Amino acid sequence: MIIDQEKLEEYYAKPPEDVSLRDVDLSRVPRHVSIIMDGNGRWAQARGLSRPEGHVAGVDSLREAVTTSVRLGVDVLSCYAFSTENWKRPQSEVDLLMHLFATTLVRELPLFHQENVRLRFFGDLSALPKETFDVFQQGLDETADHTGMTFVLAVNYGSRAEIARAAREVAQEVERGSLRADDVDEGLLASRLYTEGLPDPDLLIRTSGELRLSNYLLWQLAYTEFYVTDLYWPDFDRWEYLRAVRAFQSRRRRFGGVEAK
Ligand code: IPE
Ligand code: IPE
Ligand code: MG
Repeated sequence: MIIDQEKLEEYYAKPPEDVSLRDVDLSRVPRHVSIIMDGNGRWAQARGLSRPEGHVAGVDSLREAVTTSVRLGVDVLSCYAFSTENWKRPQSEVDLLMHLFATTLVRELPLFHQENVRLRFFGDLSALPKETFDVFQQGLDETADHTGMTFVLAVNYGSRAEIARAAREVAQEVERGSLRADDVDEGLLASRLYTEGLPDPDLLIRTSGELRLSNYLLWQLAYTEFYVTDLYWPDFDRWEYLRAVRAFQSRRRRFGGVEAK
């Protein structure tokens, strides 16, 4: 992705003491950055606010993460917004999140147009309320021709459900005779996942300090570098993003071999 150097430097003006744009190599920015946006509830609780207020604050961080990714020249940004397990939350919180997804997307569509960002989703959208589903569909349609960064929102996403769905699809094709069992390999299975056509994440960021994947991209994260920050999601900003990229660039990725790649 092409970087607009002038815009980038302006965006990263006034750095804090510990990190600046000079700390990262712009020729080695991760292609695909993925984020588990966690800690909205704890952020709110720490301020005596309600959980919904935490989710509303989290939207601002998400907008900043999209802009930061565009400025840094990331090809794909994917963000985990709602898991298949999050339906277990109180109905009022689920309803609020679904409504927030819809209203936020409507409001942010101009940003996607302005930055040439293409929208995509991971997850089973058919289970979403109609309001949310319709807005997501509108977002897909309106950004389909954009050629800049791909922004993915994972909603009603669960990695095990995704893999089971892929296996079911493949089994049905074998049953129909359009596919031979011997032809089922890693590439074929990967082509039936929501991530079809996208590179695997290079960098996974999780906020709020949890050291687990919570059913996120189990297949695709096989060789991804992890960066976990104690910051709650609403406190995540362009500077923490830069620290994550700096950490990523300090790693030696071996992919099972002996040479750093
Ligand atoms: C992440 O924040 C947002 C969603 C999972 C929808 P949480 O709501 O999980 O916040 P905590 O983890 O309870 O603090
Ligand atoms: C993971 O966060 C899911 C999202 C960020 C959407 P959770 O808050 O649901 O994860 P657990 O329950 O702490 O593992
Ligand atoms: Mg959480």
